Amino acid sequence: MQIAHRLEHLQGVLVMEMNMRLARLRQEGKDIINLGVGDPDFPPPPHLLKILEEAARHPDYHHYPSFYPNQPLKEAIAQWYKRRFGVDLDPIKEVLPLLGSTDGLFLINLCLLDAGDLALVPDPGYPSYEAAAKIVGAQVEKIPLLRENGFLPNLEQIPAPIAQKAKMIWVNYPNNPTGATAPPEFYEKLIAWAKANEVGVVADNAYSEVYFDNRPPHSFLEFPGAKEVGVELHSLSKTYNCCGWRSGMVVGNKDIISALGKVKAHADRGMFYPIQLVSMAALQSADEFMAERNRIFQERRDIFLAGLEEMGIEAYPPQATFYLWARVPPKYTSLEFCFQALEEANVWMIPGSLYGQYGEGYMRIALTHSAEKLKEALARLKKFSQK
Ligand SMILES: Cc1ncc(COP(=O)(O)O)c(C=O)c1O
Repeated sequence: MQIAHRLEHLQGVLVMEMNMRLARLRQEGKDIINLGVGDPDFPPPPHLLKILEEAARHPDYHHYPSFYPNQPLKEAIAQWYKRRFGVDLDPIKEVLPLLGSTDGLFLINLCLLDAGDLALVPDPGYPSYEAAAKIVGAQVEKIPLLRENGFLPNLEQIPAPIAQKAKMIWVNYPNNPTGATAPPEFYEKLIAWAKANEVGVVADNAYSEVYFDNRPPHSFLEFPGAKEVGVELHSLSKTYNCCGWRSGMVVGNKDIISALGKVKAHADRGMFYPIQLVSMAALQSADEFMAERNRIFQERRDIFLAGLEEMGIEAYPPQATFYLWARVPPKYTSLEFCFQALEEANVWMIPGSLYGQYGEGYMRIALTHSAEKLKEALARLKKFSQK
């Protein structure tokens, strides 16, 4: 028996090493503060938990999801996009519920790429973009996200032969790991560039509802022509503090949505009906809890930024996401600093190099702990950095 060659180039080694070290230290009884977790530490709003509990208890709601209509969920998604972004969507042709955005993030590669085709992937970037493209046999070209460009890709700098060969480009704002957001001009340029080069755009907007200073981020679909060139992935995970529900959506270009629907007809059996019901309720409910949740994330952001500044560590104040993207001290690589901070301060941050070569020299800090815990992490890091 031989595992398929397509898995040979997948990078799982660093993640395995990270998990092994964390497990070993915990076994040794160390109290690790894990600032690597990209999952909100808040519960979903209580009224949604009640709906989920009641639906889960219903004896008729445990069949294959295809026995239940999913049109109401599609309509709730379309209405939410209208309410939040002012975007009109046809719930039948331009909306497809997903088992979390990861579901679409992976399967869309089967729809847009044949073996040998080229996908453009941001660097630093969410590692699954590259992995998924490679699993389907595509080639990947990394597009640097540099600090001097506000961590946006410089589309003009993509060489013409690469742009013409590319079949697909990933964009992700608000961005994981840098926390950067994209202005309207970026999306306008992206749409023109994608049209000129006939490249499909996949915009990952999973973090649009975690934002600060009352500045809600945009959707790619707000901009004229977007639906002609691509789709947007979205998710309830970070929006409603419910990463475990596995509920997300893809919206936009009807040909891509139709292709994804065909693949998904064979890849899964749909979303557990109680999750559909609670997702609808979430999308239709008032958003007040988000303002409070975001206020708390903002407070944590400011505490941590001030602490890093005191230590002389440079960080980029994010307008959205619950991540801080910070420089590691110059004498270390990302990996050296993060592993040393783990062993000596028992604080874990993700080495920027995990997100690509342009992530080297950085680390990602998730603000998914209470202010007290974050202050303790800062105190430990301060002691460590003074050694
Ligand atoms: C940028 C980005 N996209 C997509 C996802 C996947 O989210 P989900 O599958 O829970 O919707 C994540 C999760 O952390 C992410 O950071």
